[in-house]
Amino acid sequence: MTTELDDYIATRADVRAYLDRALSDAESHSQQEAALFETVKDKLIQSGARLVAHYYVDSEIQRLAEETGGLVSDSLEMARFGASDPAETLIVAGVSFMGETAKILSPEKRVYMPTLEATCSLDLGCPADKFHEFCDAHPDHTVVVYANTSAAVKARADWVVTSSIAVDVVESLTAQGQSLIWAPDRYLGRYIQKRTGAEMLLWDSACVVHEEFRLNDLDALQSMYPDAGLLVHPESPEEMIDRADAVGSTSQLIDAAERLPNPSFIVATDRGIFYKMQQRVPSKRLIEAPTRGAGGTCQSCAHCPWMAMNRLSGINHLLDHWSQKSEIVIDPALAEAAMKPLTRMLEFKASQSA
Ligand code: 13P
Ligand code: SF4
Repeated sequence: MTTELDDYIATRADVRAYLDRALSDAESHSQQEAALFETVKDKLIQSGARLVAHYYVDSEIQRLAEETGGLVSDSLEMARFGASDPAETLIVAGVSFMGETAKILSPEKRVYMPTLEATCSLDLGCPADKFHEFCDAHPDHTVVVYANTSAAVKARADWVVTSSIAVDVVESLTAQGQSLIWAPDRYLGRYIQKRTGAEMLLWDSACVVHEEFRLNDLDALQSMYPDAGLLVHPESPEEMIDRADAVGSTSQLIDAAERLPNPSFIVATDRGIFYKMQQRVPSKRLIEAPTRGAGGTCQSCAHCPWMAMNRLSGINHLLDHWSQKSEIVIDPALAEAAMKPLTRMLEFKASQSA
């Protein structure tokens, strides 16, 4: 069936030629990408290194991890996998705290990242010297920090947690009557506080991606999709969390998409998650929660700028050069100190699963 647009194009040789050229460029680009993917996959398998990827990186990188025996997961499972997999070399596709965590938990392994420039606004928002001053001012408090921090901040902590385990750990510490320092994400801190009733002093930092999810245009979206469930990562503002059908880590949100009966979901987290979420719920519709529109800022626009620095071409370059510039190196004394609260987290998780 031809449309008016087809009829118009048929009368315009210049437009037709332009479209043919654009189509041919796109085809050749996707052929090059497919060829690069196969090249990188062969090199990765031959190298024996294991690729550990977060849900927020490019879908091609997630697929590469899936097809080479690596892992795609939330930050807790990334930490667990890196420490338990026998591979001597890990390539972590994510942000720097994820690479550092892998190195701290497996000091004997070589840990690389496609780029060491990939940081996190929470990590940047919690400089170690200022954080140490904060802890010094409250010596009677147990220090609980989010995994999204530097090794130097973790080294000062009693506990490290990720969003998938934070509520459980804080609940257990509160039951023991402990008062807590929490850093750095204030939204996650408030959420934990609300869920557990914990007495917590909160550091004041936020994630540049999740902070942009606001109620403003949510009402309009929900009236367009009245059956849609709302899935919210707990780094988001309280107003979003309060309206959510499920709140949790990236893995927990994917589980919720499968568990809840809704035919569609509005998803308030980085849109990189859609690749894996859609695999698990192929027949459900996934919709990005609004970051633009009335009152929206849309600077990160639901995609972490640091996660986006992980590119297939970067992994290709890494596999060719294994440059020291891409290798995670941590001061051994710092790593030893940071290992304690991280190990505590993994032991807590293991005790839950037992
Ligand atoms: P998860 O632990 O849920 O994967 O979160 C990591 C993160 O950086 C979210 O922004
Ligand atoms: Fe950090 Fe936010 Fe990016 Fe997660 S999405 S890595 S919290 S900046």
